[in-house]
Amino acid sequence: MKKNIIEVKNLSKYFEVSRGIFQKKSIVKAVDDISFFIPQGESLGLVGQSGCGKTTTARTLTLLEEKTKGSVNVYNSKTNLLESIDNLDEDQLKEFRRNIQMIFQDPYEAMNPRWTIKDTVKEPLLIHNLGSPEEQEEAVKEILKTVGLTPPENYLNRYPHELSGGQRQRVAIARALIMKPKFVICDEPTSMLDVSIRISIMDLMLELARDLGVSYLYITHDLAVARYMCNRIAVMFNGKIVEIAETEELLKNPVHPYTKRLISSIPVPDPTYERKVYDINFDEIDSLIEKHGSDKPMIDIGNEHYIATHDVKGLI
Ligand SMILES: Nc1ncnc2c1ncn2[C@@H]1O[C@H](COP(=O)(O)OP(=O)(O)O)[C@@H](O)[C@H]1O
Ligand SMILES: [Mg+2]
Repeated sequence: MKKNIIEVKNLSKYFEVSRGIFQKKSIVKAVDDISFFIPQGESLGLVGQSGCGKTTTARTLTLLEEKTKGSVNVYNSKTNLLESIDNLDEDQLKEFRRNIQMIFQDPYEAMNPRWTIKDTVKEPLLIHNLGSPEEQEEAVKEILKTVGLTPPENYLNRYPHELSGGQRQRVAIARALIMKPKFVICDEPTSMLDVSIRISIMDLMLELARDLGVSYLYITHDLAVARYMCNRIAVMFNGKIVEIAETEELLKNPVHPYTKRLISSIPVPDPTYERKVYDINFDEIDSLIEKHGSDKPMIDIGNEHYIATHDVKGLI
């Protein structure tokens, strides 16, 4: 059996927010009891509308936010084991940061504008104290070539603002991959790019995944993008995962009313696939829940196709 690159169980992240100075604090359940796993070398799409909790999931998994509940285990390539992200000491934290990388929506925001491309891409090697200065420069050139910034000498001494959006995202990808991670979390990496260069960045990421054996947790609001990039798709709604299945299975046989609504409203029609407009009703899911039991948060309806059983009537 394939090993998993990450296993997430019952993960929640709540924020306490005050709506006004005289009002009581309230709790926002940004991520609310989600579970999923990703086998090594496979990619999972996390899809849902804005505000459903995708970025908070990513930030929690990468320790940019502290989780409220649940367990997260990530593959450590040094020990060859899945290890908890809780209570890491300094060395373990360093190792964790090596094993899990993140690519953000806005590469410009994630880069220091005063650093050259060379320094930006090289930084992870410095943090982890890998190689001599000459070896580091060689590694930077090599990875710039890999992401299509050629010849690398033309980019080394430039600054982020001198590059186009697509080139900057290539730099961000180079920086994420220079440590040779097996797992990369991508948060809407192409949504700020011009449509014309989106596909080339997606193709680059697919090629790198294949060549380097990288798994992605690929976050997007766009089902068509998730379909292009991922083996399986998890649909998120209101902080919860409502349906997970292999990509074509999910698109052909969606069960959850929210997934059906999402498919019915795919914004950019994908010519390779016939868009269906579904009737949004609860008959199908209700009878499946009756058949499989409502005592579990998610039920497997066959073909590793999971649907959530919690009540969403009135929300969709
Ligand atoms: N730091 C925070 N403090 C309070 N609420 C937050 C914070 N970050 C996110 N949220 C809330 O959590 C919910 C999920 O947000 P987010 O994860 O950014 O969604 P998405 O990435 O799917 O658009 C939203 O209601 C958002 O307002
Ligand atoms: Mg987001």
